[in-house]
Amino acid sequence: MMKYFSLFFIIATIVSGCSVKVNAASILLNLHARSMQSPQAGINPISENGPPQPTDVPSLPVFYYNQTIDHFDKNSGTFLQRYYINSTFYKEGGPIFLHTPGETGINPIITTSSFVSELATSFNGLLISIEHRYYGESYPPINDLSTPNMKFLTVDQALLDFANFIKYPPQELNIAKDSKWITVGGSYAGNLATWMREKFPNLVFAAYVSSAPIEAKLDFFEFDQGVVNALPCAQNISDAFKFVYDPILMSGNDSAILELKQQFGLEMLQDNKDFASAISHPTASIVQNYVPPQTPDQPDPILSICAPFAQSSSPEISAFIYSEGVKAFLNLTGVITPEDKLAQFATTSISTTEKNDLAPYTYQYCNELGYYQTFPKSSSLSTRSQIIDIDYYQGQCNFLFPGIVSSPTIQKTNKKFGGFNGKFSRTVFVNGDIDPWTALTVSSKSANPKVEGNTIFLVKGGSHVRDFAPPSPSDSDSLNEARTFVYNTLAKWLYKK
Ligand SMILES: *[C@@H]1O[C@H](CO)[C@@H](O)[C@H](O)[C@H]1NC(C)=O
Ligand SMILES: *[C@@H]1O[C@H](CO)[C@@H](O)[C@H](O)[C@H]1NC(C)=O
Ligand SMILES: *[C@@H]1O[C@H](CO)[C@@H](O)[C@H](O)[C@H]1NC(C)=O
Ligand SMILES: *[C@@H]1O[C@H](CO)[C@@H](O)[C@H](O)[C@H]1NC(C)=O
Ligand SMILES: *[C@@H]1O[C@H](CO)[C@@H](O)[C@H](O)[C@H]1NC(C)=O
Repeated sequence: MMKYFSLFFIIATIVSGCSVKVNAASILLNLHARSMQSPQAGINPISENGPPQPTDVPSLPVFYYNQTIDHFDKNSGTFLQRYYINSTFYKEGGPIFLHTPGETGINPIITTSSFVSELATSFNGLLISIEHRYYGESYPPINDLSTPNMKFLTVDQALLDFANFIKYPPQELNIAKDSKWITVGGSYAGNLATWMREKFPNLVFAAYVSSAPIEAKLDFFEFDQGVVNALPCAQNISDAFKFVYDPILMSGNDSAILELKQQFGLEMLQDNKDFASAISHPTASIVQNYVPPQTPDQPDPILSICAPFAQSSSPEISAFIYSEGVKAFLNLTGVITPEDKLAQFATTSISTTEKNDLAPYTYQYCNELGYYQTFPKSSSLSTRSQIIDIDYYQGQCNFLFPGIVSSPTIQKTNKKFGGFNGKFSRTVFVNGDIDPWTALTVSSKSANPKVEGNTIFLVKGGSHVRDFAPPSPSDSDSLNEARTFVYNTLAKWLYKK
């Protein structure tokens, strides 16, 4: 969810241990290959002459569903919603797994080689991975992402898309009328999977949900607390922000602030909060997407960030180690250049060569969900700058989408779906105890949901949506148990006489 910086930026800090000799390129490749959150490559711009040809997945056939633009106005016309299928092991009468990636384009990995595809396979099910409206190539006919054009991007419309698909499945799939549909999703898409079962129990038989922040929240300071808890060097990083970076950022001394930005190689970021945000997110990304070493010679990403700080004896030295890491990374990848920094983030054009999934997601959290990852005022430790506050995020919302609601409609969202107090049946939830998002899931200490059968599994050492990755021999016992739990739970529901 936190895609403000690309995956590459995340690795920056891993590589950062200037004194730790690691093979940066191999870490990069491994993390990239294993991440289920990796951005889509090579997406064509939308055109009015029918669906564009996919350039990134020549081997996987793409299907398009003729979807209603506005479910509250049946005369609003239609648009094409993209999906992939895996029917290799499907037997008629088997369950239909309906997955959506949510806020990114559909990814062939989920369909072809993931725990989700293996699960579908073991039930002789059909797996469908369908794109969420306004992501990837599944856009209603609009010319740009200006605020008025975003009006059909709501959770309700997305849920009704999936309901429509289940009610009127494409004929070419030959789905029997009485088939059992199981919705599947991770992160925001996990909310959708949960809410599909909750709101359409007659259409959706069950749901499998990973790391879903089902409680909408404006001031999501718990996110940073989760990062702190997962990092053995949180004290070092916290000291760097508290005693070195923040005093400068809040000094009002422009030349000192410029020097600090230069120290990170980020002098092109004019806005101080943009800069603070840029240097605050990398560690969070590492924790959120944590994957333990798969072979003994691979470094542990969290230990790799923290190792250099063992030599630190002052906040100044910690600050130096941290900034060197970010700088080394920028040099290493060249991914973040002056031109594409916030300009890319801010683009509201959908005719760019690479479709920007960040803008629609920003609209969604600005509009209905919140999740502003702020500095935690009441904590003694933090891995981010204290100038990262609600106003910073709201400012981005207002900048990108002038005229949007002045604050996300959190209460409405939680009232509609139940949030922490939701009532969920035939829904199996998996969360991870080091995932910073877990604070907003059914596994949160603050949550009091009624989950029929208490089908919730918390993975020890588990990160965000980790269970969706294809099983690997190096997976922890807890992760293996989680996947077995999902399988057994669904089997019980499907085969119960
Ligand atoms: C989609 O459905 C609409 C209304 O039923 C129809 O007019 C249109 O031709 C369909 N488009 C495609 C590509 O099937
Ligand atoms: C369907 O998923 C199974 C399990 O991951 C995989 O073995 C198979 O190759 C997949 N089929 C396609 C067409 O991707
Ligand atoms: C502002 O910062 C610069 C560079 O660090 C320093 O030389 C200067 O004395 C500072 N000015 C004030 C008024 O503190
Ligand atoms: C940094 O962390 C190490 C342990 O990783 C600790 O020994 C050291 O005291 C810390 N340095 C500071 C300045 O907090
Ligand atoms: C990037 O790193 C290389 C190798 O360490 C170094 O030679 C080069 O000067 C660096 N470039 C910049 C812009 O820092």
